[in-house]
This record gives sequence, C-alpha cells and structure tokens, in this order.
Amino acid sequence: MNAIEIEDLWIGFDEEPVLQGVNLKVEANRNTIIAGTSGVGKTILLKSVIGLLKPNRGRITINGEDTSGYSAQDWYNLRMQIGMVFQGNALFDSMSVWENVGFFFLEHTRKSAEQVRREAEQALKLVDLEGTGDLYPEELSGGMKKRVALARTLLFNPKIILYDEPSSGLDPVTSEGIKDLMRSIHKQFGTTALIVSHDLLFMQGLAERVGLLDQGRIVGFGPLEELQQSSDPLVSNFFRIKGISP
Ligand SMILES: Nc1ncnc2c1ncn2[C@@H]1O[C@H](COP(=O)(O)OP(=O)(O)O)[C@@H](O)[C@H]1O
Ligand SMILES: [Mg+2]
Repeated sequence: MNAIEIEDLWIGFDEEPVLQGVNLKVEANRNTIIAGTSGVGKTILLKSVIGLLKPNRGRITINGEDTSGYSAQDWYNLRMQIGMVFQGNALFDSMSVWENVGFFFLEHTRKSAEQVRREAEQALKLVDLEGTGDLYPEELSGGMKKRVALARTLLFNPKIILYDEPSSGLDPVTSEGIKDLMRSIHKQFGTTALIVSHDLLFMQGLAERVGLLDQGRIVGFGPLEELQQSSDPLVSNFFRIKGISP
C-alpha cells in the first residue's frame, strides 16, 4: 500500500518548470528520503503534497485518494492527517513552547486552554521535552526547537509526517538524536515519513527508501546501498561525491 503516489508532477513558476514529471511512490509505514542538491525542488515537492502549491500538471494520490479535484475544505481535512516539520521549524517567538505545540487547537477548536496544555505536554513527552512547556523558543537549542516542531505535528496523530531538511543547522550529535527520535516515533505510531534532505550521513540508518531528485525528476529510487552502487553515474556519483562508501 502506498501512502503517497505522485504521477507526472510538473510545477513551475515563471521560467523553466522546477519539477518536470516527478513520479514517486511512498510506501506506507516506511521512511522515504528524497535527496537532491540545493534548489532542485525538494521543498516544492513537499509543499505540493499538502496542497500549498498546485501542480501545473500531474496527480497526487494520498492514502488512495486522488487530490486533483480537492476543494479548500478537502485540503484542510487532509492536512489534519499529515504533519509537516518545516526546515526553519516555524515556531512563534512570542509564544511559549506549549502554546506553539497547541497553537492550532487554541486557534481553531473550542478546547479549553487547560485541555490543550495537557495534550501539548503529552506531545512534548513523546519528544523527550517533558517540563519545557513554559520556555520560549529563544531559550531552546536547535535540537530542542526541532523536537518542538515535531511535537506540534504529533498532536494530530498524523498518519504521514513530512520533514523538510530535519538535520539542517544541527551539529552531528544533535542530528543523530533527532534521527533516533524520528525512528522511534515512526515505529511507535506506524507513521509514514517522507523526508527531504541533502545530508547523506543523516540518511544512513534512517532511510528505508531513497529517491534522487535531479533536473526535475526522480532519477533513482531504492535502498541507499543500491543507489550507491547504481550503474547510472548520475546516481552513484551523487552519493559518492558526498564521501559515503557503501
Ligand atoms: N514560490 C516560488 N516562486 C518562484 N520560485 C520559487 C518559489 N519557490 C521556490 N522557487 C524556486 O524553485 C527552485 C526550487 O526550490 P526549492 O524547492 O525550495 O529547492 P530545494 O528545497 O531543493 O532547495 C528554486 O530555484 C527556488 O528559487
Ligand atoms: Mg528546501
């Protein structure tokens, strides 16, 4: 079963389209990483999956449902099932950690502040940040901010979590910690993860499937070790240049 299926996806702005016929199947309950150099369209790909960018052409199917004819309300409902951890975490500096985690519930539901706080604290516990609810983002390390951003998505029990460059700006040790956390969350909840990253060290031991995005298309797809040994030099070079041997 595929959690996400992308068929012949084209997305462009003024000039040459950034995505030029992306085909991708993301299997349920797996961690799939899309690799690619900076500016290749990785963030655009993730945004298209939650309807923040509309395709010029192509089809995105999520949990078996074609999103082509989706209304704003349909996208809203879908976003309740898909968490996105943004590259810069998208935390509000003026709000405490628990308010950041519970932001959506505070703004868009009738749940009481006490109830939201309880749920936020539970989500914080899942990311090993128990007791940090009253801190403010400026008091947190980069790794803690990433955990808060993840806790915010866990509030919704998402079936799918999208991560945009989760290791960016983190030192290698912190980055390993985030990777461990992602693995344990996905295992615990059976979540499907679609991760975009250009950090090959980060992929090792996390990615069950890797796709390489290059010049608007997925040019290689499979287990990391397979791509590293690919007969297509475009694919094998990408992984070799970065200095990781199979
Ligand atoms: N809203 C937009 N309007 C115009 N160009 C954009 C927009 N978003 C992204 N781009 C361009 O599309 C390309 C791919 O962007 P992006 O998906 O952010 O790359 P990546 O995440 O792989 O680094 C970049 O050249 C970027 O400048
Ligand atoms: Mg990006």
